[in-house]
Amino acid sequence: MNLKGETAFLRVLRGERVDPPPVWMMRQAGRYLPEYRETRKSAGSFLDLCFNPTLAAEVTLQPIRRFGFDAAILFSDILVIPYALNRDVRFEEGVGPLLDPLASIHDLEETDEATFLGRLSPVFEAIERIQSLLPRETPLIGFCGAPWTLATYMIAGRGTPDQAPARKFAIEKPEEFRALISRLEAACIWFLRAQIAAGVDCVKIFDSWAGSLPVNSAQTHSAEPIIRIAQGVKERFPNTPIICFPKGAPTLAPIFDRATEIDCLALDAATNPDAISFGRALQGNLDPMLLTAPTDQFETHVDFVLNRFADRAHIFNLGHGITPDARIEAVERMLARVRSR
Ligand code: CP3
Repeated sequence: MNLKGETAFLRVLRGERVDPPPVWMMRQAGRYLPEYRETRKSAGSFLDLCFNPTLAAEVTLQPIRRFGFDAAILFSDILVIPYALNRDVRFEEGVGPLLDPLASIHDLEETDEATFLGRLSPVFEAIERIQSLLPRETPLIGFCGAPWTLATYMIAGRGTPDQAPARKFAIEKPEEFRALISRLEAACIWFLRAQIAAGVDCVKIFDSWAGSLPVNSAQTHSAEPIIRIAQGVKERFPNTPIICFPKGAPTLAPIFDRATEIDCLALDAATNPDAISFGRALQGNLDPMLLTAPTDQFETHVDFVLNRFADRAHIFNLGHGITPDARIEAVERMLARVRSR
């Protein structure tokens, strides 16, 4: 029997309501944890940490040991895809990611699947190691960035407030843009399939900047590539659940609802689940800011989320990643409230 298949997290992803809901947090391994900051110091650069299977496994496990979350997420980053497509990717302290800006599709080297996956081999080694160390009742989530969000970083060469460089590129050079999205789609399918083959129990597709697009482009640049990726993954691995996170774009929900390959829609904190037409599982959506400042209204906010999702198949999570200034005591209090339900 596959024990992980019986966990609350995977049952919800199959559409069951579970009470209390399983809980994990986006960016649960990160700088708000002293043990993460300690490991990070000894790792060298951020990418060195991502590509060191022993240390990547260690930081993946840290939040599980401390809080006993109902799922672990592979420690890595969405920008390992451009890296494996041979783009220059660095993370600068206090600045964030810096890439060599992509001015034209012709600057993107043709990379075949074997070369691409070869450059990511430490990630697969980390997955095997994590699965050998994780408690048997804790499923492991793998992930990738969606083509649109990856394209925003690849084109601008950094994070931007409004994704203007990628939006302009898509308008000015639609053919090149389509080609870029389709190259990224292929890379996402290769990467997610290889993560599943290495042992992850579920995958999540992060489209953090879906909300920067107008409605029609959101469908073509965000939703449709994600759905094709989900189809490509399910063709090979029909039983591995897929979560998608089109941040800031709740209008895409009906499109994802029609794509039965998507098992769960993750909602950001601004999205009201009552307004979402999606018939399978939902994940979300406590405001991560709530974990940064003490308030006697804390439980009221947590209860609001619990109640909003009460009649749905729900995985409790934040609406976006936990921030470095989050308080450990607040995470403990959130867990206690969710689990005391
Ligand atoms: O959730 C987890 O615990 C797994 C690890 C994970 C990281 N990044 C680690 C990380 C995951 C799932 C991501 C996804 C990711 N990375 C996204 C999509 C989700 C989202 O937050 O919208 C995006 C857009 C990125 C790109 C990225 N990586 C940025 C913009 C930054 C800099 C901003 C920051 O928080 O510093 C990163 C760096 C990064 N990725 C850190 C971590 C823990 C912090 C870097 C450090 O420790 O020095």
